[in-house]
Amino acid sequence: MTIMATNPRDLCNEQIVNELHASHMYLSMAAYFNHQGLRGCADFMLAQSEEEREHAMRFYNHLVDRDTRVEIGVVDETPNAWDSPRAAFEDALAHEEKVTGQIEKIYEAAESAGDRPLMNMLDWFVDEQVEEERTFRRILELFDLIEDDQAGILEIDERLSDLDHE
Ligand SMILES: [Fe+2]
Ligand SMILES: [Fe+2]
Repeated sequence: MTIMATNPRDLCNEQIVNELHASHMYLSMAAYFNHQGLRGCADFMLAQSEEEREHAMRFYNHLVDRDTRVEIGVVDETPNAWDSPRAAFEDALAHEEKVTGQIEKIYEAAESAGDRPLMNMLDWFVDEQVEEERTFRRILELFDLIEDDQAGILEIDERLSDLDHE
């Protein structure tokens, strides 16, 4: 994204693309984990990818409901490989932290424009980001505990396949 929008509606349009980018990145991580033989991690990332598309649709639907023109921008490229499973999860957490910042920025713009419906819609995202960051931090904690032990990685893989169905 080259334009630095400050108008809440423009920021929502940009956020559709940001959420789609997250969706692509998690899909790419799913493919990477599948290739590594970590099916639990792959399924977990597939579920994340679908969730991110739903996030994009929340912004899309909000704009349509507000009778605002939706314009889909270019989705940036995503990496296709990581140095280790842990590195992928580190990237995921960093990405979620970035998205939290984007949501905060839209919230501030909505607040200064007195856009109450958008603020209400964003409340869901504020809670969601707390949840997403917590999930990825927890997974990284598990990686800290196993200290690169291969059997431990399989254990995490098992746990994530359970988490996916919760
Ligand atoms: Fe999201
Ligand atoms: Fe997310």
